[in-house]
Amino acid sequence: MPEPTLALDAARLLADIRALGAVGADPGGGRTRIALSDADQAGRDLLVRWMRELGLQVHIDRIGNVFGILPGSGGGDARPLMIGSHIDTVRHAGALDGCYGVLAGLAVARAYRSAGRTPRRPIAVAAFTNEEGVRYQPDMMGSLVFAGGLSLDAALATVGTDGTRLGEELARIGYAGDLAPGAIAPHAYLELHIEQGPVLEAEGLQIGVVERLQGISWQRITVHGTANHAGTTPTRLRHDAGYAACAVVAFLREQVASAAPGSTLATTGSLRLAPDLINVIPRQATFTVDLRDPDEARLQAAEQQLADFLVQLAEREGVVIETERLARFAPVVFDAGLADAIEASARRLGCTHRRMTSGAGHDAQMVARIAPAAMIFVPSQGGISHNPREHTDDAQLVLGAQVLLDVVQHHLAAD
Ligand code: GLV
Ligand code: MN
Ligand code: MN
Repeated sequence: MPEPTLALDAARLLADIRALGAVGADPGGGRTRIALSDADQAGRDLLVRWMRELGLQVHIDRIGNVFGILPGSGGGDARPLMIGSHIDTVRHAGALDGCYGVLAGLAVARAYRSAGRTPRRPIAVAAFTNEEGVRYQPDMMGSLVFAGGLSLDAALATVGTDGTRLGEELARIGYAGDLAPGAIAPHAYLELHIEQGPVLEAEGLQIGVVERLQGISWQRITVHGTANHAGTTPTRLRHDAGYAACAVVAFLREQVASAAPGSTLATTGSLRLAPDLINVIPRQATFTVDLRDPDEARLQAAEQQLADFLVQLAEREGVVIETERLARFAPVVFDAGLADAIEASARRLGCTHRRMTSGAGHDAQMVARIAPAAMIFVPSQGGISHNPREHTDDAQLVLGAQVLLDVVQHHLAAD
């Protein structure tokens, strides 16, 4: 006899999303829980409280990743099926990015608890540290350390955009745990997330079966020019760091403008000039470049074209240009068996669905280094994310969590 299907407490999941979304609320809308800030601490405290109320065993590792474990019956080996994401945010974020996946993991554990059922192997709900990477780079840092891709010491020594040291901030908020990162080795990893892009909505589909994730290249570029008087310095004698930075931004846009859809993307999301005064030619420009592409060879080509342009620009403008790599992740292909299982669940639940590639970075891409991993997407209204207007209808959020629960049940039954 097949075991009865577990029921998801949809109202509780939606209430949890709203309650966590209220932590770090900004006066103008949205919320800000930058990694290892006081607001991140408050969000973590709430999550840990909910994990304890559910009777999960809570573990914190040395990079601050939080795990809540629902013990298994011992039917498989001791490695848990892990469901995770992150609860740190960008500035003025929506309530869903990351939080949805963690809280849906909690909803899966709650479904087992409420039915009085013990899964065959443990279920671990994970919230990884500093997925967003806006204060400390690289992004996906907690899951990267967890997967052995970055040493703990290097991560703890990272200096943030505000001059703070990650390890000190982690200790300050009380989340420098004592578990070795990676000690809880997953048997498999699932991550439910909003799409953060326009594809599912545009195609009128309910579920994305995420089988790939594009490559990500982050650099910080510093241009050193010469500060001088805005009213007296002829254009041909300027070494204008601000102009050089803008030339790079324009070059990148021109490079990608003709690229095929689903190809290279380029973004300068941070740009600072010094001395930043109306009548002074900028002495220094510091800006970031985020390049993404699902194809590694094309991503490398885009990096090389940028590097070549910087050499020509430095010579032409008489400026010095330095580059610093902040993050570099190759495209990832997720586990085919798990993707098939997600598709089978979507079909079983009568959901419209498609296979897709994630444009955003996710903890799943790091965990995929050490365990079979795949992701489930639900639509994002207007394709908007990293913005307080980020929205997915409640019914869609519930449906995504039901697909996750179905995947988990079948995965554990088939174990
Ligand atoms: C994470 O949000 C990313 O930058 O893709
Ligand atoms: Mn996210
Ligand atoms: Mn994000």
